[in-house]
This record gives sequence, structure tokens and C-alpha cells, in this order.
Amino acid sequence: MSIYFVHQFTDALLGNVLSIDTKEPWLTYTEWAAAHGDLVFVRLLGQEVVVINSQHVAEALMDKRSRIYSDRPYLATLEPFGWSVVFAFTGYGDEWRLSRRLFHQTFRPDFALKFRPKQIKRAREMIVNLIDDPQHYHDHFATFSSSVAMSVTYGYQTSPRDDPLVRIVENALAVSLQVMTPERAILLKIFPFLLRLPDWCWGSAIKRDARISTHRMTEMTDLPFQYAQEHMVENLSLSQVSMVSDNLQRMEKLDHASKSIFETALKKVAAAAITGSYETTTSTLMTFALAMVLQPDVQRRAQAEIDLVVGGDRLPTFEDRASLPYVESVLRETLRWHPIGPIGVPHATSSDDIFDGYFIPKGATVISNIWGISRDEKRYPKASSFIPERFLAVNNALTDDDPAKYVFGFGRRACPGRHAADASVWSVIVTMLATVEFSPAKDDQGKVIEFTPRFTTGFTHSPMVFPCNISARSRAHSELVDVFRTGA
Ligand code: HEM
Repeated sequence: MSIYFVHQFTDALLGNVLSIDTKEPWLTYTEWAAAHGDLVFVRLLGQEVVVINSQHVAEALMDKRSRIYSDRPYLATLEPFGWSVVFAFTGYGDEWRLSRRLFHQTFRPDFALKFRPKQIKRAREMIVNLIDDPQHYHDHFATFSSSVAMSVTYGYQTSPRDDPLVRIVENALAVSLQVMTPERAILLKIFPFLLRLPDWCWGSAIKRDARISTHRMTEMTDLPFQYAQEHMVENLSLSQVSMVSDNLQRMEKLDHASKSIFETALKKVAAAAITGSYETTTSTLMTFALAMVLQPDVQRRAQAEIDLVVGGDRLPTFEDRASLPYVESVLRETLRWHPIGPIGVPHATSSDDIFDGYFIPKGATVISNIWGISRDEKRYPKASSFIPERFLAVNNALTDDDPAKYVFGFGRRACPGRHAADASVWSVIVTMLATVEFSPAKDDQGKVIEFTPRFTTGFTHSPMVFPCNISARSRAHSELVDVFRTGA
């Protein structure tokens, strides 16, 4: 790797690229932010990279100049690993516009309100599984995360446990998110021949990984889509909202060529909804669970608020949300404490720009250092601690500081699933707080099992499974969710 000072960027002193933490690059970017400020310029392998370290500058560039900052950079791993089926990585142009429009029809804020009954129902079903089978809490979070998206995207109703299509999504993402690391993208950009090495040759592992990843991504894109095609008539007759069947029906009037373009876009949009939901929602719930195990006093305070507002004889609903500011602050702190996309998805410039006297060339990769923003000690004292109270004013009202303004990205590429994500995460968090207790796991001798939290690296940042005890808060709480066990 090489680095040199780009003469237009004179004031921005640069670190040594060799010192970039390739597994957790956001840590390096955050060190650079402390030393060099809100904008850092670097040249990596001939590629100009701009790292934005503050919400203010990210908004000034990506929101206010979104016409320039909405492209995506070339990622050498995308095509070989089968990820070009997801429109989140498509360049800024007509294909992306069509995809984004299709996505918006289903996931826009007013339409996403229709998912709420499903979100609450699925959250309650999940609690039954948590109580019955607490060790596999990660699997239950994952099933919940895909269930809402699978239902609104394909009209597919997942079974509460061991669903075959959920397994397919899980398998595809397990391999992809592990192998689609920034190091691999760089490696393939410099050594594209690695994909052509014969299988017996040293270095061909990347080719094998790419083959497996592509196979699983294709399976994940095609099988649920096929399901929606086969069940289109049935779903429409039951008035079930499904992005794919609604659009397939509209497409019937189109000529062959337009139909084919439209169908390809629709598949990509559906794949983006599933990949977009699965890992992000699951990781956020993992972060919440970790915080509850480490901070019993936070859990107790949130439970006390729910008990006071909701009472003990029913479960919380969205109508209670505005009356539960502490729960809201817990959600905000969960998003901030360990942002699940610490550098979001990189943007790229589609023309030259000048900002604050600096020249930013066309084709530059633009990274928003979401991690750095969330760890700004001036804004968040003791930033590495989980303190929901930082979002509450003296009168217990929520402050104006909402991490949702940066953890979902910026500008025209900002997460279009954020309204659905927010409601999904809230419904699970509030239902878990109302009904179950997270506590440290104990060994056979009754001693607390100590652990140091570990996190995944690569595209997303999520706590790995940790020792944890989950039980119903009381018999009464267990009975409240029993109704979802019997399906009554
Ligand atoms: C807590 C949950 C989530 C977080 C923190 C999150 C975060 C993000 C971020 C940081 C980006 C990149 C934004 C940018 O380029 O500036 C993104 C893009 C995207 N997200 Fe999410 N997301 C979440 C949930 C979801 C869900 C539930 C869906 C689907 C229903 C979704 C679908 C997408 C799509 C399709 C894109 C690509 C947008 C584009 O390139 O135009 N996300 N998300």
C-alpha cells in the first residue's frame, strides 16, 4: 500500500496507511480524527479516499450536496462474490433510481406503519422462544429480523423456529459477510488473477470462497422470489401486502423487454430488503442484550417505567411509545454505543467539488466514520459506556440528539429501511423489557461466568454470542406471552 500527500489537501496531515486497522478501520479513522479533524484525505492504492468524522460535515456534503455525493465506489469483491444482486452497491444512475423507487413504495414511512401489527406479533412469538430456548437467543433474534422483511417482501410467513428460507438467508450472509471484508476487496483489486488460479494452487482459497458466496447469494435471491411468483394469486386474493407480488401483478401489462428489466430490478430490491434487514436488526438486538447483561440498573429502570405506564396485565404496544421516554433513550443508546455499520456503506463523488477550500475529485471514495461520530467524547462523555440518560433532559424529556440521524447514513443513499428498522427494534426491545430478565450466566457452582465481549468485523460490527441468562420476569409475565405459544 502507498500513501502520499495530495497537494490540494495540504492541511490534512495523514497517517501511515500501513497502520490502518484493516479489520476495524473505524478505529484508525477515529485516531486520525483526533489528530487531524473532521475531514481526512488519504490515497489508498491510487484511490482517493475522504473520511468524514463529524455529523455536521457529513450533512454538509452528503445531504446538502447529494447530487455529487451519492455514487458508490467500485468494490472488487462485489461481482465475484455474488453481491451485485443487492442494489445497495449499485452506482448512482437510472438502475439505482428504479430500485430505490420500488423499495420506497413498500418501506416509506406511512406505508411501513402497516407492518406494526406484524412486528408486535412476531416480537411476542419470539419471546416464547426466548423463554423456552434461551441459549439460542441469537437464532431467535435472527428469525425475528427476517420474518417481518420476508412477509412484506415476498408474502412468505416464516415459522417461529428453523424456517428453511431463513436458514438460506442465514447461510448466504454467514459466508458473505465473513469473506466480503475490505482486505479481500483490496487484495482482489491488486491481484485479480487470484480468481483464475487453478483449485490446487496456493492462493486459490479466495476463488473457492467467491464460488460458495455466489452460489448462496443466488439461492437467497431466487428461492424466495420463486415462492412469491408461485403464491402471487393466493396472496393477492388474501389481500396480503407483498412488494414482489404487487409489482409482479403490475408488470403483467408490460412488454417483454420492459418486463425483463423490471423483474431484474425487483429481484435486486427484494434481495436488498432481506440482506438489509437481517444482519442489521439482529446485530442491534445483540447489542441491546449485551448492554442489559452488563447494566442491570438500566434494565431495572426501563422495566419500572414499563410497569408504571403499561401495568402488569397487558403487553406494550406502539400506542405506549410516546409515554416511555426511558425505553426510547435505551434504544438510542443501543444504536450509538456500538453502531452496527461503523463506516456505513461508502459513497463516491460523481463530479469534482470544493469544500472548505479543499478540492475533492470526481471518483473519490467518501466514508462517513459513524463510529467516530458516536464516540465523540465532547458530545458523549464516557462514550464507551452505555448511559441512556445522556439522551434525557432534567425533566426526563428526550433531548434533540438522536443517533438515528447518523447511524442510518446520509443523503440520497441513507438507509431506506430505517422506519421499518426503528419500529422492529423498538417492538422487540420493549416486549423483551416487559417480559424477560437478562442476567449474567452462572456456572455449575453458581459463580458468574466472566467474559470480555467480542465483536464481528468486516461489513458489520456485532457482539458475538456471549454467556447470558434469559428468563421470564415472573410467572405472570410468562403467562402474558403464553397466548402466542398456543397461537390463540
Ligand atoms: C438498525 C438497523 C439498520 C441500520 C443501522 C442500517 C444502516 C444503514 C446504513 C448506514 C446504510 C448506508 C447509508 C449510506 O450509504 O449513507 C444503509 C443502507 C441501506 N439499508 Fe439499512 N440499516 C438498518 C436496517 C435496514 C432494514 C431493516 C432494511 C430493509 C428493510 C435496510 C435496507 C437498506 C438498503 C436497501 C440500503 C441501501 C440504500 C442505497 O444504497 O440506496 N436497512 N443502511
